[in-house]
Amino acid sequence: MSITYLEQERIFRLDTPNTTYLIGLVGTEGLLGHIYYGRRLCSARGAELFLRTQEHPYTPDTNARERVAIMDSFPAEYSGHGVGDFRESSVRVRDKNGCSGVQLTYLCHEIYDGKKPLEGLPATFGGEREVTTLVITCEDKALGLLARLSYSVFEDTDAIARSVCFENGGGDVLCLEKAMSGCLDMDNRDFETLTLHGGWARERHMERKRLGHGKFCVSTLRGETSHQEHPFLALLTPGTTQTAGEVYAFHFVYSGNFIAQAEISQFDSVRVVMGINPEDFCWRLLPGESFQTPEMIMVYSSAGLGDMTRCFHRLYRKHLIRSPYLHKKRPVLINNWEGTYFDFDEKKLIDIARESAKLGIEMLVMDDGWFGNRFDDNRSLGDWQVNEDKLKGGLKYLVDQVNALGMKFGIWIEPEMVSRDSRLYREHPDWALAIPGRQPALSRNQYVLDISRREVRDYIMEQVFSVLHSANVEYVKWDMNRPLTDLAGAALPADRQGELYHRYVLGVYEMQQRLITEFPELLLENCSGGGGRFDPGMLYYGPQIWCSDDADAIERLSIQESTAMLYPLSSIGAHVSVCPNHTVGRVTPFETRGYVALAGTFGYELDITKLDARDAAMVKRQTEMYRRFNELVREGDYYRIASYQENHLFDCFQINDSRKERALVFFTQVLNEPNRRSRILRLQGLQPDADYQIRQVDMEGEELLKDTGRTVNGSVLMEGGFPFERLWGDFRCRLLYLEKAGE
Ligand code: DGJ
Repeated sequence: MSITYLEQERIFRLDTPNTTYLIGLVGTEGLLGHIYYGRRLCSARGAELFLRTQEHPYTPDTNARERVAIMDSFPAEYSGHGVGDFRESSVRVRDKNGCSGVQLTYLCHEIYDGKKPLEGLPATFGGEREVTTLVITCEDKALGLLARLSYSVFEDTDAIARSVCFENGGGDVLCLEKAMSGCLDMDNRDFETLTLHGGWARERHMERKRLGHGKFCVSTLRGETSHQEHPFLALLTPGTTQTAGEVYAFHFVYSGNFIAQAEISQFDSVRVVMGINPEDFCWRLLPGESFQTPEMIMVYSSAGLGDMTRCFHRLYRKHLIRSPYLHKKRPVLINNWEGTYFDFDEKKLIDIARESAKLGIEMLVMDDGWFGNRFDDNRSLGDWQVNEDKLKGGLKYLVDQVNALGMKFGIWIEPEMVSRDSRLYREHPDWALAIPGRQPALSRNQYVLDISRREVRDYIMEQVFSVLHSANVEYVKWDMNRPLTDLAGAALPADRQGELYHRYVLGVYEMQQRLITEFPELLLENCSGGGGRFDPGMLYYGPQIWCSDDADAIERLSIQESTAMLYPLSSIGAHVSVCPNHTVGRVTPFETRGYVALAGTFGYELDITKLDARDAAMVKRQTEMYRRFNELVREGDYYRIASYQENHLFDCFQINDSRKERALVFFTQVLNEPNRRSRILRLQGLQPDADYQIRQVDMEGEELLKDTGRTVNGSVLMEGGFPFERLWGDFRCRLLYLEKAGE
């Protein structure tokens, strides 16, 4: 890892272990051009040729007559607006006259070891020996605007973290109407795009298509990351697979409105921009004030999608997730939501806890319905007082009983919301987002609190803290069950209403930070109607996120595959639930549901007191399985072997320990086919010269692991493959455990 400035060539050179990124300075005014991003170079000599400043129309210095043509084809490091570059701008600023031209040029730079935090925002981090940062300060003299483009490279992973900090260095107010976190220009190589698309209960399904001329974008305006689009975009060279092909991936460390866009120009260059969605965004910058954009992560791999995945996993595990639980075993939890919905009392919960404790479950999570008058989802959000008619004896009594059974206790909250039918709304109707003169839109019969306001945040956090301090609560599930609408904040002046979406997100971050500061040992799981706010920003606060409200094992294969493409398995909330599944009505074997949940945080979402003896026995075996393998799942390297999303028949992935001596291979036969032989699939990432003893997890036998009687060489498994036998029926799963022979 290193960053250098090559004086003579006027090139900034950024190196990660396997990639190089080059930025060049051009002409007397110091235009900032993007030169190269890709496989690591031995030297940058001659690379400035990629700027094409030797070709017609040359540079503004040599051909002032054609400035527009130059600006419209120049590979910009951070594109301007309104002064000649007609491709997507990275920044748009309206000055006191209402005009909006901006062009940033080089002023100075700084390179330092380490990385500074981004105020109020989640961001990657690292020590002085782990990360190096370049900050290029640019200016637009006419506006008096300064922009600090920041790039951090990591010593242990091929990722670059980028962000921009704007400062109003002039004497007049500036309105920032668009502030992308990064921009990347390069020539098109017949790129395909890879994005993650979905909806409630079917989040993050992969979509791949050829990028054509014009603009392709994914975005949201829902005020949260969203179930529908994910703040991720990758460009792939044609035919890219898990193990081959070039990948340029962009991921946004943010939990609100975003845009990720790729555009092919008339000259077949590609421009990618990523940042806060400029729609409904307008930030007033008074003289001397700054605006910090969220961070965007870039990963380049020349070795396919699998390598990209492991790169993101390494980055997020080492440089983003801060929780004390990051490398700790998470307690196997049971959540009562699908088991009881709102229909529970302290007796019911204690019964669930009692049965759970017998079967190896370690924590009871009390979901929605414990507060105010909340017997359904139409009321009481905002009234964070325990309902003692429902929970007789109060929260402390319940938690003490659960603790006495040897189990931890966790609780659900939804602090950003208020029900119309609540004491809070009756007392403070102006605390909800609402446009004056317009009845705000309800969703799940609730409104969104204006948490951009400090007094609202203070009030809510005080209520929540008092509940959490009243008993031994060791886990919180922080939910958020509707998108933002009716964007108007009663406390903001008219000319600052365009700041509200972002201020809301800053409010979420501030509240989450307060929570984990007040309770440093707390296990925080984020959630938004399932996986509507699954993003790297939220991982900075809590190490795990509920992945989807759809706990059906087969739908989960797809959701978890795409989620695991970017996020470590330890961050993916996954539970075993009852069948017929509450979302799709599908019936899958209990065994399969356990294997699918094992590839996540692992837990249960059912009424355990209603299980039959066979399933109950299986819970015992599954919790044993979790204890045996949680470390490997949490810390291991992830390899995708086959995708059910692609082939519609079967699914396979593998987790190896860092020494490649142990591996878990998950194979799911979604649909059986008649008259077929075994399916041979190639494993990955093993030691080619080692032999591996292959055992299989057994849910019903004497021992957890059953010997298959096979020992197979690593190169045979990787070059030839392993024959997965046909299983009888649909939705069947096989979990293999490989251990280096003689270990
Ligand atoms: C949505 C969550 O995703 C569910 O798990 C559950 O907590 C409900 N909200 C409760 O209202």
